[in-house]
Amino acid sequence: MLENLKQQPPDGILQIMQMFREDPRDTKIDLGVGVYKDATGNTPVMRAIKAAEHKLWEEQTTKTYVGLAGDAAFGEAMIGLVLGDAVDTSSVAAAATPGGTGAVRQAFELARAAKPDVRVFVSNPTWPNHVSMLNYLGIEMVTYRYFDDETRGVDFDGMMTDLAAAQPGDVILLHGCCHNPTGANLNAAQWDEVIALLGKTGATPMIDIAYQGFGDGLEADAAATRKLVAAVPETLIAASCSKNFGIYRERTGILMVTGANKGLNQSTLAFLNRQNFSFPPDHGARLVTMILNDSTLRSDWEAELDEVRTSMLGLREQLASELQRLSGSDRFGFLAQHRGMFSRLGTTPELVQKLRDDFGIYMTNDSRMNIAGLNTETVPSLAKAIISAGV
Ligand code: LMR
Repeated sequence: MLENLKQQPPDGILQIMQMFREDPRDTKIDLGVGVYKDATGNTPVMRAIKAAEHKLWEEQTTKTYVGLAGDAAFGEAMIGLVLGDAVDTSSVAAAATPGGTGAVRQAFELARAAKPDVRVFVSNPTWPNHVSMLNYLGIEMVTYRYFDDETRGVDFDGMMTDLAAAQPGDVILLHGCCHNPTGANLNAAQWDEVIALLGKTGATPMIDIAYQGFGDGLEADAAATRKLVAAVPETLIAASCSKNFGIYRERTGILMVTGANKGLNQSTLAFLNRQNFSFPPDHGARLVTMILNDSTLRSDWEAELDEVRTSMLGLREQLASELQRLSGSDRFGFLAQHRGMFSRLGTTPELVQKLRDDFGIYMTNDSRMNIAGLNTETVPSLAKAIISAGV
């Protein structure tokens, strides 16, 4: 039987991660997978996470099962973090999931359970795993214009035109902040227009918010999501704690659903968890809950997250100005405008390969760079390589 299995294409992001590991050059720079690294190249355990782990080790007396949707306290804390007071929290259904990816996957499954022939609109481009999961689930996908190759900003007119074709029963997937893979984001006025349009179409918005706190701050990054949930009757929100709490391998995420029938939504979330993995992971979720509910831990976490965010902004500005100096032009100014971990450089796969082969610089083939993979010392080398390679 097993001989019938088909070789699956390797995941582009994870393939780059592997290639980087195998490159012996000590000058190599990893701008591949979306993981934050500090100035020494380490992905640190955040201080508040360490403290919460310590406390948990001392206080936890059992590791028995919790519930199919995870601990209700995690749900409440995350609804507060992401949605603030945008909606009556008692109307939000929520279930913990294995990471943000697990939340996205469960959201797709929920949409398909509600409407077997559901169509999901995704930005062009979007996180490749969105596309891969939709294909795997056999869900029809419609792309809407998003990235403008010329300006490296958002093709807003194209986006609005394409989204206007959505209908009730369609799902529109939007990135709440820090668009992956481009780094190009809507401004507040553009969000208002998108939200008004979505209201008119009657489609169901789905927000993937994996980088809250990495763009302009925890509140600013959630502002669009909050406005959206307040404006339309139902939404699906997939949130991740991997990046903003730095707990990548703990697989901590949550799917929230707003809508008229909370009881039905909640029982469907629990059912879908049971079918796919039964109980969600608890360790990371528990740490996050402890941090969000303890004012000392929370303010330390917020302070450290802010350090991470401002260091990425500093790197963006340094890279943009280094490139301006070397190229004598402003054509790389978009790097300082983009937000989040990523920026799409906007070059060809051939030049991406040249950067890899000749300079040991690893980015995904679509020229997505993980800005958090840089430090103040590697920025000048990257800028020099970009110009020497002829980007
Ligand atoms: C990324 O886009 O690099 C991250 O979201 C990690 C992943 O799982 O792809």
